[in-house]
Amino acid sequence: MSLRLGDTAPDFEQESSEGTIRFHEWLGNSWGVLFSHPADYTPVCTTELGLTAKLKDEFAKRNVKAIALSVDPVESHHGWIKDINETQHTVVNFPIIADADRKVSELYDLIHPNASTTATVRSLFVIDPDKKVRLTITYPASTGRNFDEILRVIDSLQLTEYHKVATPGNWKDGDDVVIVPSLQDPEEIARRFPKGYKTIKPYLRLTPQPNK
Ligand code: BEZ
Repeated sequence: MSLRLGDTAPDFEQESSEGTIRFHEWLGNSWGVLFSHPADYTPVCTTELGLTAKLKDEFAKRNVKAIALSVDPVESHHGWIKDINETQHTVVNFPIIADADRKVSELYDLIHPNASTTATVRSLFVIDPDKKVRLTITYPASTGRNFDEILRVIDSLQLTEYHKVATPGNWKDGDDVVIVPSLQDPEEIARRFPKGYKTIKPYLRLTPQPNK
């Protein structure tokens, strides 16, 4: 069965381009982004991995570790990484899991047989420091993911986690946010949102982004 939001991200031990990964231990107290690729030496994946490498500082700012997965062996990954570095003008600075035996692909339901019986789909999981799955997305092999959107969702998840606010549709960093409906205690509201808030409806309360 596929993973659902709130499930514990399955732990595993698997080879990677940076040695053996014991996933939960490797994550430690960080947030994680685990994302799969149809195969090595494929064009869209090459661009995605280059983008991820270039976003290293953005992930680090958010206490996020990125890890990719492809169902090819580790020697193939090493050759592909050279191509990624050359063509995307970067240095791949995160591990790529070598899931040749598809152990992780099965745990994370990454083979969708009606799309392809051999290649993994383009799935991505955001995992919190408690190892809970907080976001799942699945794209077809032919569509590269938008990594600005991944960062935006991580910002939203962390605002909810650490500041008890939610983010409205099309929210961008710096826009007003929504006080979560479960927060009703006036003293806590005053303490958390010293810049004040607007009540549009009792269930729709907007406040300036608290961590700005
Ligand atoms: C790929 O880069 O993985 C890809 C590109 C076009 C169609 C399918 C996959």
